[in-house]
Amino acid sequence: MPIRWLPFIPVWICGRIIKIDSKPFYRLTKPVVFLVCLLPLIALLLRAFEVAGLTGLGANPIEELLHELGRWGLKFLLITLLVTPLRRWWGWNWLLRFRRMLGLFAFFYIVLHFLTYAILDQGLDIAAIFEDVIERPYITLGMTGLLLLVPLAITSTKGMMRRLGKSWQKLHRLIYVIAIVAVWHFYWQVKLDTLDASLYALVLIILLATRVYNSRSLRGK
Ligand code: HEM
Repeated sequence: MPIRWLPFIPVWICGRIIKIDSKPFYRLTKPVVFLVCLLPLIALLLRAFEVAGLTGLGANPIEELLHELGRWGLKFLLITLLVTPLRRWWGWNWLLRFRRMLGLFAFFYIVLHFLTYAILDQGLDIAAIFEDVIERPYITLGMTGLLLLVPLAITSTKGMMRRLGKSWQKLHRLIYVIAIVAVWHFYWQVKLDTLDASLYALVLIILLATRVYNSRSLRGK
């Protein structure tokens, strides 16, 4: 089973035992989902330090780390975008309580992806990083995605949500732009096999199409 589905298993098991959408349900599932979201990082660290006979990160560990963290950042972005369609289609409103955590994990993995690039790949050479951002279009796109994520992460608290009111929703629609920029960044840096990047693009297109469909059908009511 793909590891990305793991966060849903504890939620499902807890939902069998305790009433979904109750306080004990969230008290139990939130820390579990948090730990499950950390699993990709833990797995990478275990591989990096070859713990428990794991094979390490291969011939180019920095590249492997960079790619894995970038992919997890993108997966969490897409999983965050999946919350609204799942609520609409299957009435899984309880997912809303996990959306902030999922979005912040996307930010977390993308920041780690950037730090791997900036520190391990570029040796924190600010001039070289700046040159890359200006001269390599896929890095320009990645940087755009990261910078756009910052205001979303800062305003993700309940207090900010209350303070910003309707503008909060407008601001957080940026997540769709960020996802487009991120998939584009992925696609642009691929040298040979574009299949993986195309699959991520397809998932995003489906998510965007459902978003357009839902807002049209809501307007029609
Ligand atoms: C929204 C933010 C971002 C997301 C979702 C993201 C995601 C990704 C993904 C999925 C890959 C491809 C992994 C693979 O091929 O297996 C990648 C590659 C890469 N990203 Fe990002 N990235 C983001 C931002 C950035 C930023 C800010 C930088 C640096 C300034 C950056 C630098 C790179 C580099 C250097 C590569 C590898 C290129 C290569 O191997 O030739 N990314 N990123």
